[in-house]
Amino acid sequence: MSYSNIRFEVGDAGIAQLTVNRPEKLNALNSETVAELRDAVSRAAGDAEVRALIVTGEGQKAFVAGADINQLALLTPIEAQAYAERGQRAFREMEMLAKPTLAAINGYALGGGLELAMSCAVRVASETARLGQPEVKLGVLPGYGGTQRLPRLVGRGRALEMLLTGEPITAAEAHRIGLVNHVVPLAELLEFSRQWLCKVLANAPLALGLTMQAVDVGLEAGLEQGLRFEAAAFGLTTATEDKREGTRAFLEKRTAAFAGK
Ligand code: COA
Repeated sequence: MSYSNIRFEVGDAGIAQLTVNRPEKLNALNSETVAELRDAVSRAAGDAEVRALIVTGEGQKAFVAGADINQLALLTPIEAQAYAERGQRAFREMEMLAKPTLAAINGYALGGGLELAMSCAVRVASETARLGQPEVKLGVLPGYGGTQRLPRLVGRGRALEMLLTGEPITAAEAHRIGLVNHVVPLAELLEFSRQWLCKVLANAPLALGLTMQAVDVGLEAGLEQGLRFEAAAFGLTTATEDKREGTRAFLEKRTAAFAGK
């Protein structure tokens, strides 16, 4: 698939960058953009050269200012249900990517924008970022997972405050409630994000993927299933070269060089 609403570039250290590229519409997500996003996630999953993914928005003003309200305004109920399901699938695939994903939030992350950011493993926001779920102001509710992922990230009460008021919060407030992991000046956002991922990528790749899966299984299926998955995955890692290298490097007092095998 060729892209006209996003850019997908694989850079140094296997860190790919997916940039939503409709700055004249504050990177609002129309259905073409969602289809391209989904395709890029599947490319990132299938390309062994891609070790991690940064998701960001073009320009200085917006990460993604939500679903495209021009399209939203015209949807019939049946179309709207399918529209929500397509977005949910794309974002779920992002969430399930067994490689570290980071949303570099460079401005407004509203509606589908915040939902996209929440489907990444971690979020780094610029000081200028504003985050919110304003759907109720438009007579709808979040359709790309906002009612589910926001309470999982910040707790029921804080999530309901954001979902019911529709008011955006500042990056500082988002950091305070745990919605974003770090806040940095806008000019440093991408470099900080790359450095953060480089630090993560120095760790054993198979262990990283399994860790993300274990967290996901536990949150979806509950503690008992999560613990079972964790024990099985822990067992699996003992069969990897990475585990031999990691433990040997510690005992030999040197830095481990992981092969992802
Ligand atoms: N869908 C479609 N177009 C959008 C959009 C969206 N979600 N968000 C912004 N745009 C468009 C605007 O219509 C405008 O286009 P135009 O120049 O052709 O008129 C352009 O992007 C710039 O936005 P503008 O509103 O002029 O910028 P602003 O700085 O005054 O306000 C926001 C910025 C983010 C506060 C405002 O654009 C906004 O509230 N957007 C909608 C957010 C939202 O409700 N998202 C959830 C959708 S479910």
